[in-house]
Amino acid sequence: MHIAVLNGPNLNLLGEREPEVYGRTTLAEIEARTRERARTLGVDMSWTQTNHEGDLVDAIQRLKGKADGLVINAAAFTHTSLAVRDALLAVRVPFVEVHLSNIFGREPERHRSVLADAAVGLVTGFGAESYRLGLEGLVGHLQARHGA
Ligand code: DQA
Repeated sequence: MHIAVLNGPNLNLLGEREPEVYGRTTLAEIEARTRERARTLGVDMSWTQTNHEGDLVDAIQRLKGKADGLVINAAAFTHTSLAVRDALLAVRVPFVEVHLSNIFGREPERHRSVLADAAVGLVTGFGAESYRLGLEGLVGHLQARHGA
């Protein structure tokens, strides 16, 4: 099983960016932890971060036929990007939306996700652990679907 993880804008700054909201764990540390969990689950994992909407759309389009599932933190594009939504609908790769912060406990503009209704599920508010929880939920979902 191959799981892709895609990260949107400003997540490269985790660790130093608004630590009171996002914690002090860097994206590299989150990647290492998530890879370790993927290894114990017996799944392959790829990891990408981009600050650019078009690059995120390209990365989603490239998943077709390659990834069994996707964990995505689209960051601010979560709230705005119909292009990211359309790409997800086009490739039809089952995905889990993750956020470090609880987007529903923040400013009203962040309460809306243009991706969420198309997701298998959401994990929001568990800090760096949201990625691990998202991965576990997604793999469980895919295994149940494939009768594993
Ligand atoms: C975020 C929440 C978004 O509202 C924000 O724009 C981010 C990070 C999170 O992981 O909590 O950049 O996706």
